Order: sequence, then structure tokens, then C-alpha cells
Amino acid sequence: MKYKKRHLYIENVSAERLARQFDTPLYVYSYNKIKDNINSFKKNFKTINPLICFSVKSNSNLKILSLINKFGLGADVVSKGELTRVLKAKIKPEKIVFSGVGKTVDELKFAISKKILLINTESENEIMEIEKIAKKIKKKINIGIRFNPDTDAKTLKKISTGRKENKFGLIKNKFLEILKKYKESKFVNIICLSVHIGSQITSHIPYKNMLNAVNKIIQQSKYKFKYIDLGGGMGIQYKNNSKKLNYLKYNKLIKSFLKKNNSKIIFEPGRSIIGNAGYLISKIIYIKKTNSKNFVILDSAMNDLIRPALYGAKHRIVPSKLNRQKVSKKHEFVGPICETTDKFLNIRNYQKINQKDIVVICDVGAYGMVLSSNYNLRPKPAEILINKNLAKIITKRQKLNNII
Ligand code: LLP
Repeated sequence: MKYKKRHLYIENVSAERLARQFDTPLYVYSYNKIKDNINSFKKNFKTINPLICFSVKSNSNLKILSLINKFGLGADVVSKGELTRVLKAKIKPEKIVFSGVGKTVDELKFAISKKILLINTESENEIMEIEKIAKKIKKKINIGIRFNPDTDAKTLKKISTGRKENKFGLIKNKFLEILKKYKESKFVNIICLSVHIGSQITSHIPYKNMLNAVNKIIQQSKYKFKYIDLGGGMGIQYKNNSKKLNYLKYNKLIKSFLKKNNSKIIFEPGRSIIGNAGYLISKIIYIKKTNSKNFVILDSAMNDLIRPALYGAKHRIVPSKLNRQKVSKKHEFVGPICETTDKFLNIRNYQKINQKDIVVICDVGAYGMVLSSNYNLRPKPAEILINKNLAKIITKRQKLNNII
């Protein structure tokens, strides 16, 4: 995304043209940004040669998943729906891991029938269900067990998963107990230790603590895991100059971890692959002026992008056309939904803006469209993929008629 002669372009297409041609609100993704993100992820972790499984929950658009496949990644899925979709995108079963605290028997059977690489289990009940299925089909199923390292990810509380009070994984004693109990099982083959402490992590220190805890439990168990699945969580810059994870430091930590534990590393990145490759193009419906602030009422709302309302997340909002007139008043960018929390951002010193102007909400490629809803009976936006000059619809805008 860059300004050329004051007009904002995503790859070689201007935001204003996109708004005119496809209407707003509109999700737009940059093909080349996705490609660059994947290449730089691979490059940063080259020396440990990991299996990279894209976390589909962050963006499950079929076309995007086909790109993920084209660029050589596997997939981390959490439901039958996601698994069906990634298979449709031609991602190979041997590059698919299935995570989640509550997979149903139907989902387990489906995953087993598709011969995916592994199912990361999170409770003894789940392992017992897998054993039952395996017994019936007379097969041994590859599984992982998720360890809860009781590590603080130092990120938003609502997206932390690695503390013992969180529902995820198995805490130390239970983990060791299960390992002991099932290592001789005729029906499950524990080949992986998985761990994921949270999302939008911007320092390598939580990962260091996580790796120490993982190392400790492996030493204690004396068990040889073929795979160590370190999950995702790599943070991105939502603000210019904000902190971002130093991949090379993380890579170094993993390298020294691997000296003690010779396993294949699996990653499950979502946000770091797709987060900054997505934009939400919106139009200003009205500007309501009050003494203390101007409410900038957009045609996008919390049903299109819920991260600000749900987590207090802040996404940059930039104008599609620059001018030199500054307004020092506070601007509160909001959506039209009948909830006070339908609010995107407060900005002071914004440029002069007018009704019908186009603005772009940035870094919405991850956990944007996937978390959208029809709240207030608003149709979901279209999704567009841009590759240089070419803008293609990859999901049609929902028609009002179809949701009424
Ligand atoms: N693996 C597991 C087991 C996960 O639970 C998650 C995310 C990931 C991988 C991918 O994490 P990532 O690399 O994207 O950080 N809706 C929230 C984020 C929820 C993350 C849930 N789990 C948000 O909008 O910030």
C-alpha cells in the first residue's frame, strides 16, 4: 500500500477505483504481500526447516488457501468445515494438523478418514474417543498432545492461551500422566508435543519461557517426540513503529532448543502471514460534529470487523486521497450499528474529510472477514484479491435477498 500523487494504491489499483468498481465496505488482499510474507517467514526460519501450517482460522477464503498451497504451506485447522475447505484448496493431508479443545466424534472420524498428518489432542477424553475409532477401523492413529506451559504471552488477555487457568492443553502433571499411560497404546501413536501460548506476541521472551518449559517437560518425560508443534502467535505491527517480533531471535532460541531435542518443528502462523495483506475499504456516510469531537460514521461496522469492539484492537484508518488541511479536533471513527462498542478508533489531527470520502482500515487480513456476521441484518462484504493491476472478486458481496 502506498500513496502515488496523493492517491492511495493497493498494489497498482487505487482504493478509490476499488470502491467505485466493487462498492463498499470491501475487503481487499494483496497477492504480492501474502507472497512476501510467506517468503520472509520461510527465510527467517530457514535454518530449522520447519513444516509451516497456515492457521486457517485467521482467514479461510478458498482462493487465499489455494495461494497458501501454491506457496508451499500446509494448514492448521480447527473444524470439519476448515478441513473440508483446505482439502478443496488441494492442501495435502500430510501437511494438515487438526487442533482445538473440543473436536466432536464426527470431526475426529472425518479427520482420520482423510489421513491427515496429526490430530493435536487436548484432553484424555479426546484420546479415548480416538482410541475407540481406531479400534473399530483397526488402525493406529498419529496424535499430538498439547502442553499447557503456564507461560504468560504478554499479549491481550483475551487472546492469551498458555496460562494454567486457560482451557487449552494439559498442565504438567496431567501431560506426564497421559504420556505414560498412552505411550504403549495399540491405537494411538503420540508423535507430537504441541503448544501455543497466544496470539499477537511481539517479544521473543514469552517464546523463550515457553521453550524452556517444553524442554523441561521433555527431559522429565524422557520421551522422543517426532514433531514439536510450536503453534503460531507471531505478532505484527498494527501501528507504524510499534514493536514487532524479532524472528531471528526466536529462530536462534529454537535452534538451541533443537540441539537438546532432535525433532521436526511445526509452526501454525496465521496473522503473520495474512494480517498486513488485508484492507477494509469504507465510505464515510456522515460526519456528525459535536463540541468535543467529530463522529465519522463509516459504512463498515463491527459486524464487518469485530476486533476493535471485541479486543480493543486498534487498526490504522487512512484516507484514500491526501490533502494538506489538518483538523485538530478529535475524530471518532464509528460504524452505523446500534451499539456503543461499534467504534473503530479515535484520531486527533486528521486531515479534512468529507461525507462520501473513502478511507481504508489497515491490517485486517487476519481475523477480519472470518469473524464477520450478519448482525443488524447487514450483508457481508465482498472480498477482492489484487495482483499488480488485476483486481478479482474472490467472494461475492452477500445479497440482501439471500439473508432476508
Ligand atoms: N495455533 C493455535 C492452536 C491457535 O489457537 C492459533 C490462534 C494459531 C495457531 C494462530 O495464531 P496467530 O499466528 O494467528 O497469532 N481473534 C483474535 C486472535 C485469536 C487467535 C486464536 N488462535 C484476534 O483477532 O486477535
